[in-house]
Amino acid sequence: MNLQIPYGKTYGLLGPNGAGKTTTVRVLNAIISRTSGNASVGGYNLITQSDDIRRICGFLPESPGLYSKLSAREFLEFIGELYYLPKDVISTRIDELLEMFDLEGRENDLLESYSRGMKQKVCLCAALIQDPEIIFLDEPTSNLDPAAARMVKDLISELAKKADKTIFICTHFLDAAEELCDMIGIIIDGELKVEGTPKEIIESVGAKDLEEAYLKITGASHIDDLLAWRDENSNNYEYNNKKERKRKKKNKKSR
Ligand SMILES: Nc1ncnc2c1ncn2[C@@H]1O[C@H](COP(=O)(O)OP(=O)(O)OP(=O)(O)O)[C@@H](O)[C@H]1O
Ligand SMILES: [Mg+2]
Repeated sequence: MNLQIPYGKTYGLLGPNGAGKTTTVRVLNAIISRTSGNASVGGYNLITQSDDIRRICGFLPESPGLYSKLSAREFLEFIGELYYLPKDVISTRIDELLEMFDLEGRENDLLESYSRGMKQKVCLCAALIQDPEIIFLDEPTSNLDPAAARMVKDLISELAKKADKTIFICTHFLDAAEELCDMIGIIIDGELKVEGTPKEIIESVGAKDLEEAYLKITGASHIDDLLAWRDENSNNYEYNNKKERKRKKKNKKSR
């Protein structure tokens, strides 16, 4: 894989389950070490300057670990302190984020009492608390209700436009990817197969939208073939029914 993401752009990495999206973002955030190759993230070398990379990047993991015996506020204070932010900055940021994510009033409840979507929101707050230059979001809208998903999409586009952040998103929500991303990469089995703007990708395969293009590119558009067994079965059903009707008729006559 060879990626070049210009500063300030929103990049969407798409691909089937198990393609390697999460592995890619975990490597780029210096959370797991690469088997081979190298990368520069925000100008820092992945091998020799991984601490700098962690400092400038915000990361929403796919399956975030939360300390369930902490409240949301305590957890976010803890994350803020890991970034060596001053206490007053942490407190102001937490208030802003809790308001933004509609978590006010619940901030002192233990995280174990939170719903899945609420936990996802707390993780998004944690990813944004140090106002990172580069934001990696692995499935940012999963588990969120439609209103919260809309809010996160608006937030992403606002961060990209106003704050000029570089945003890297892994997602299966292709309408969101089409709406938000300047560039899209599609990876299959760890290989980057296609890269371009959403428009370029859609046009390259003559599709009507990114979803259709994605299905064509990943070879998953033969859904009719996959569901052919249903027709066969329904034919069998018809056939069996006919046979049954004939048998009943015959029985009636013989009586
Ligand atoms: N550290 C590792 N060592 C070896 N294999 C790994 C490692 N991490 C992930 N894999 C494997 O690499 C493949 C890609 O996994 P990954 O989680 O990156 O997929 P993904 O594209 O994020 O999929 P999904 O859409 O389901 O989230 C999987 O088969 C996974 O088991
Ligand atoms: Mg993943």
